[in-house]
Amino acid sequence: MPLNIIVGAQWGDEGKGRITDLLAQNAQITARYSGGDNAGHTVTVGRQIFKLNLLPSGLIHPGVIGVLGNGMVVNPARLLEEIDRLAQAGLNVSPERIKISASAHLITPAHLALDRAEEARRAGAGARIGTTGRGIGPAYTDKIARHGVRLEAMLDPEHLGDRIADEIHSDNEILEGVYHRPSLDLAAIAAEYADYARRLASYIIDTSLYLHQKLKEGAVVLAEGAQGALLDVDHGTYPFVTSSSPTSGGALVGLGVGPQFVGRVVGVAKAFQTRVGEGPFPTEVFGAEADRLRGTGENPWDEFGTVTRRPRRCGWLDLVLLRYAIRVNGVTELALTKMDVLSGLSTVKLCTAYTSGDKTHAELPLGPADLSPFRPVYEAIPGWSEDVSGVRTLAALPAAARHYVQRIQELTGVPVSLISVGPERSQIVFAE
Ligand code: IMP
Repeated sequence: MPLNIIVGAQWGDEGKGRITDLLAQNAQITARYSGGDNAGHTVTVGRQIFKLNLLPSGLIHPGVIGVLGNGMVVNPARLLEEIDRLAQAGLNVSPERIKISASAHLITPAHLALDRAEEARRAGAGARIGTTGRGIGPAYTDKIARHGVRLEAMLDPEHLGDRIADEIHSDNEILEGVYHRPSLDLAAIAAEYADYARRLASYIIDTSLYLHQKLKEGAVVLAEGAQGALLDVDHGTYPFVTSSSPTSGGALVGLGVGPQFVGRVVGVAKAFQTRVGEGPFPTEVFGAEADRLRGTGENPWDEFGTVTRRPRRCGWLDLVLLRYAIRVNGVTELALTKMDVLSGLSTVKLCTAYTSGDKTHAELPLGPADLSPFRPVYEAIPGWSEDVSGVRTLAALPAAARHYVQRIQELTGVPVSLISVGPERSQIVFAE
């Protein structure tokens, strides 16, 4: 009866979509529990590449049901585009397969406009967060301020228009009065949302009740985290975070299920470290070293944002942050992705601790909010030259690569159960 939770153990983009796709083979349901279309998950099956922003990655398996939980914020225009894209790829996208929580919150065009206006204001003050511009922060702000519009309002398309118009009306006052931006067209948006409601209404249910019943019947449910622990609004590198709770606790809140069902908590970490957007990054590297880890951008799996195409900042694997992510999520096993990218480097580095002044820290003294005082302490590990993309067993990995994995296990105290060695579904090493 387990609820297995997949969490990003870094700053997002760890390859969770790929790991979810793999574990979904043995699940009946996959459920997204936080965030919105700020997330971008890529799943490669043969020649087909699926890019998902709102729908859970496990949906690519024909027998799996996808749930969008109450912890999410949903832009209906983008959701419908995504549903249409999957339909074109031949997948069943009926309400029998996709269930959306009535308690998730709607993103409106005003949220997008406010996100961009606020980001421009912060940029002027030298304090950009580097958001994805998808309206995520303003939508969660409305939720917490208790006047957001929940998807249940879409069950009544006749009144939804008025409800949306009210919201846009007050957002227009802020856009014009505070940010000196043009106001949005109330009537056009209200009509647009009434149309979305007609298409989406049949997907909207009480997903908490649905999941509870399925878990009690013995279904395996994969809770699919978006972003990563270091972007969590409570536990991340605040204020350079997203506005939701991508950590495992957020899975329970964001799906409305209790902890009695939790089985595995799989922390997905890249074999190195990346970050999009602003904020401190102690193990960041620059120049040719960064270009080597990032890739050229020719391949969809190179280190360029799936949502924004921004080049990602790259660096060495930071075990201080990884141990922290393991702790706040209760990670029971790690999935290590993109090991193949490290092939060919003469030396790979693991950050085992930080120094600040004359002090050494194995743990973060005050959490990750301010990482700027810290300098990384590295353990240099001899690299391996072999291409590992065809390797399927731990024994077949070069000894130096096995040593790298071994050191990660020793220094985190958590087993590495999966190692991905390429973007394709089959390019995986089951390490246990
Ligand atoms: P927001 O979620 O658009 O508000 O962006 C807040 C921060 O989270 C920014 O630094 C984004 O780059 C980052 N972020 C949001 N979603 C993702 C993601 O899926 N992967 C990586 N970074 C993300």
